[in-house]
Amino acid sequence: MRGIWFLTTLSFGLVAAEDGLNAWLRYARLPDNIIRQAEIPSNIVSLNSTETSPVYVAGLELQKGINGALGKTLDVTHKSNKRSSIVVGTVDAFTAAGGKTNAPELEEDGFWLDTKGKTVQILGQNERGALYGAFEYLSMLAQGNFTKVAYATNPSASIRWVNQWDNMDGTIERGYAGLSIFFKNNTTIANTTRVAEYARLLASIRINGIVANNVNANPITLSDENMAGLGKIADAMRPWGVRLGLSLNFASPQTLGGLSTFDPLDKSVITWWNDQTAKLYKHIPDMAGYLVKANSEGQPGPLTYNRTLAEGANLFAKAIKPYGGIVMFRAFVYDYQNLNESNWKDDRANAAVDHFRHLDDEFDDNIVVQVKYGPIDFQAREPASPLFAHLRNTASAIELQVTQEYLGQQCHLAYLAPLWKTILDFDLRVDGEKSVIGEDVLSGKRFNKTLSGYAAVVNVGQNTTWLGTHLAMSNLYAYGRIAWDPTVDEVVILQDWTRLTYGLNRKVLDTITDMSMQSWEAYENYTGNLGVQTLTDITYNHYGPNPQSMDNNPWGQWTRADSDSIGMDRTVWNGTGFSGQYPSEVAAQFESIETTPDDLLLWFHHVPYTHILKSGKTVIQHFYDAHYDGAETAASFPKKWTSLKGLIDKQRFEEMLFRLEYQAGHAIVWRDSIVQFYNNVSGIPDAAGRVGHHPWRVEAEDMTLHGYRVTGVNPFQAASGFQIVQTTDNSTAASVQTKLDYPSGRYDLAVAYYDLYEGEAKYELFLNDRSLGSWVGDLEHKLGYTLTRGIDGHSATRVTFKDVRIRKGDVVRIETLPNGRETAPLDYIAVLPAGIVD
Ligand SMILES: *[C@@H]1O[C@H](CO)[C@@H](O)[C@H](O)[C@H]1NC(C)=O
Ligand SMILES: *[C@@H]1O[C@H](CO)[C@@H](O)[C@H](O)[C@H]1NC(C)=O
Ligand SMILES: *[C@@H]1O[C@H](CO)[C@@H](O)[C@H](O)[C@H]1NC(C)=O
Ligand SMILES: *[C@@H]1O[C@H](CO)[C@@H](O)[C@H](O)[C@H]1NC(C)=O
Ligand SMILES: *[C@@H]1O[C@H](CO)[C@@H](O)[C@H](O)[C@H]1NC(C)=O
Ligand SMILES: *[C@@H]1O[C@H](CO)[C@@H](O)[C@H](O)[C@H]1NC(C)=O
Ligand SMILES: *[C@@H]1O[C@H](CO)[C@@H](O)[C@H](O)[C@H]1NC(C)=O
Ligand SMILES: *[C@@H]1O[C@H](CO)[C@@H](O)[C@H](O)[C@H]1NC(C)=O
Ligand SMILES: *[C@@H]1O[C@H](CO)[C@@H](O)[C@H](O)[C@H]1NC(C)=O
Ligand SMILES: *[C@@H]1O[C@H](CO)[C@@H](O)[C@H](O)[C@H]1NC(C)=O
Ligand SMILES: *[C@@H]1O[C@H](CO)[C@@H](O)[C@H](O)[C@H]1NC(C)=O
Ligand SMILES: *[C@@H]1O[C@H](CO)[C@@H](O)[C@H](O)[C@H]1NC(C)=O
Repeated sequence: MRGIWFLTTLSFGLVAAEDGLNAWLRYARLPDNIIRQAEIPSNIVSLNSTETSPVYVAGLELQKGINGALGKTLDVTHKSNKRSSIVVGTVDAFTAAGGKTNAPELEEDGFWLDTKGKTVQILGQNERGALYGAFEYLSMLAQGNFTKVAYATNPSASIRWVNQWDNMDGTIERGYAGLSIFFKNNTTIANTTRVAEYARLLASIRINGIVANNVNANPITLSDENMAGLGKIADAMRPWGVRLGLSLNFASPQTLGGLSTFDPLDKSVITWWNDQTAKLYKHIPDMAGYLVKANSEGQPGPLTYNRTLAEGANLFAKAIKPYGGIVMFRAFVYDYQNLNESNWKDDRANAAVDHFRHLDDEFDDNIVVQVKYGPIDFQAREPASPLFAHLRNTASAIELQVTQEYLGQQCHLAYLAPLWKTILDFDLRVDGEKSVIGEDVLSGKRFNKTLSGYAAVVNVGQNTTWLGTHLAMSNLYAYGRIAWDPTVDEVVILQDWTRLTYGLNRKVLDTITDMSMQSWEAYENYTGNLGVQTLTDITYNHYGPNPQSMDNNPWGQWTRADSDSIGMDRTVWNGTGFSGQYPSEVAAQFESIETTPDDLLLWFHHVPYTHILKSGKTVIQHFYDAHYDGAETAASFPKKWTSLKGLIDKQRFEEMLFRLEYQAGHAIVWRDSIVQFYNNVSGIPDAAGRVGHHPWRVEAEDMTLHGYRVTGVNPFQAASGFQIVQTTDNSTAASVQTKLDYPSGRYDLAVAYYDLYEGEAKYELFLNDRSLGSWVGDLEHKLGYTLTRGIDGHSATRVTFKDVRIRKGDVVRIETLPNGRETAPLDYIAVLPAGIVD
């Protein structure tokens, strides 16, 4: 069997452009020698003839997938027959039709797949399960895996949802792939083609629910027109077994309903919500539930009326209970904009447990508290939320993030399953007993719960790649796989995804595995280390470097960096007491510096920069080394990807290469900003002599300027040498030039500049009088993510011209034409010998 993965050539399928729309459900034709090994029945029986049934859909999907991957056309019928068939349906429908099966008792959404007999049995506990089984079988076939199997699989948890943060106006909060597929102009989009395509992708990874509108919910979602539109959206997803849920705005009775109050205990408010719920269920008879963000970041909630969070949640729970719906109630509640860093004990990380601990007996049984994976907010690394240990009598779900809000916004490669695993595999040791978050707590086993599970913020958009770029889709795929079974290995998941998305070529598989498995660690390396958080622009767009924004803000995301020391003291003995929120064994581990792992040291402890880590390095030297190592890893990605040229279709190859080259440049922006900042703050030099020394750079401010002036930037460390040049006006052609004083030879020539929105400056690079190439400051269109209007760590970027022959004394000149707000800002050029990252 294993031999089939060792293909080195693929003879077809490489010329066609692929835009990513089919993601991992491409069913690309397998090579003939593999197809020849496939023994599959000659027809498909789908045991339901209702077109909106997931079983009916499963029949068509099997037909499509087998036709695509194996080139065989099978007909689909809806009655059992005597021929050997691929039968898909519920166990009940199969046995009712006289079928015999070895399927064991299945749980809700579970299925049985048996390919051993003449007839392939794909039998679900329910219709959704049957569809999942069809996708599983197709996934095997599409990977050329024709092993005979007979097994049952059941979900680890009943709640496997995605959240979209789509606004009614069509924008998506923290979305990086275009506008909403659900909403525009304050209403729903009538054309549900993309909605159904999304539901198909979600079904294939066994997601059974979606909340389509932003948790920062707009009351007009509940207008009569919008309820009808939501009904159409639910209709489009129902055949795929994906149920619709809705985010609610707590103040709606007042803002939409015209009541004088939204007090959750007020009779008119209760009646109003009951009425809305009844109306919604007329349009969406199987509505999955509500999602509520209350009293968080400016959102209204029960605390406005001195009611408890539980009283607020129970309002919705009681309204929706008669219909079988549930309420996902977010634990992301903290003292919004009111935290004071001067107080050593103030700590936003404490908020979730402080708010919810004493309410554990107060929530109705159809409420699920939805808890972000870490105590703060989707950082590059956080410890697991201790709230999971406190919700013994309340159902809980974890909230993960597929959209890379703090992890490079799909402009940086970051395969997130390894990050999620640090949380899901973590043992909270509740009452000294094994309490692993994924397999024990979220499965419901540890506290004997039937309701529990997973939600992930995904934020796909209209872009055909769904998430803005091709490799980011491994995260969505991995999310579904992990929500079904949190114990599955992240490399196994990644490789299934890679084969389905890019084919069976061994080199493609190895390269994508290698890059993806390094990507999160590399990103953490060049952003924020040792548990200090992502070090991004915390009060703004969460993208580029801005470490000083991580202190002196009222939002409570702090590093407490001063000239001697850094880190949050979260100990009980001297700090914020956060470590005491964990059960005793874990609390004791984090209380002590000796037993806290290096990668969370600054999360739990405030230490001098000279503190010696378990690795033997000082904190500050680790910062320097990790940033250089991470940027070097990022620099290796475009090279590795380039080695796949010809093995991947042109469109996806080129689009991805563009992003990886951008990332390599922005990783250097990150590296330089962070190491310059901490070098400046601490005054401690880099033992390896790299920080602040750039032998291969010529700073723009040191060049001969025509039509340019020297300025500073904000934040200061976003410029090499802390200065840049920009044109003196917005419309006159200008230039900079310098004579090079490097030994003659071949070099890569990099230009560091800033790409803002509201302007598309033009640039052309000359060596003596020979043009090496030109470019435009138009990343705002190419990256799908909105750059800033400022010259800063978000807009800083680099372009590299490879393998240029340069002689000592040659003159480099950059001619520019500013445009709009883009004053063709330049930072430096780097003249890089082979193998030097700069
Ligand atoms: C067929 O599908 C419809 C729609 O999903 C469902 O209502 C019905 O119960 C199904 N029939 C069987 C026999 O499963
Ligand atoms: C083939 O698929 C089965 C079922 O999913 C799996 O157990 C097995 O590991 C796969 N074989 C290979 C070689 O990946
Ligand atoms: C959408 O509704 C908001 C109020 O919720 C309003 O301010 C805005 O102007 C509306 N936009 C459009 C495009 O109708
Ligand atoms: C947006 O909605 C408003 C009010 O419902 C309507 O008058 C207008 O024509 C819509 N605009 C577009 C572009 O659909
Ligand atoms: C609906 O949208 C799809 C693209 O997602 C498009 O192909 C199709 O033509 C649209 N249908 C109508 C009726 O506009
Ligand atoms: C809530 O309680 C505070 C203090 O107990 C009081 O000042 C405030 O008026 C109360 N608010 C409402 C809406 O009852
Ligand atoms: C923050 O705390 C310090 C020290 O307790 C106090 O002096 C200061 O007034 C507080 N600032 C605010 C905005 O509350
Ligand atoms: C688990 O909960 C169920 C009801 O949901 C109950 O019947 C059962 O006894 C409980 N088991 C344990 C071990 O508490
Ligand atoms: C204990 O906390 C104080 C602030 O209250 C801080 O200044 C001091 O450095 C801490 N001590 C240690 C040993 O971390
Ligand atoms: C991350 O940085 C550490 C410390 O410098 C280094 O050992 C490791 O190899 C780096 N990993 C990646 C993927 O860059
Ligand atoms: C998808 O996004 C990329 C970059 O973000 C952009 O170049 C491309 O035009 C977009 N495609 C569509 C169909 O929106
Ligand atoms: C010209 O650039 C400056 C500085 O970036 C900016 O403030 C100004 O708005 C720009 N003018 C135009 C017409 O875009």
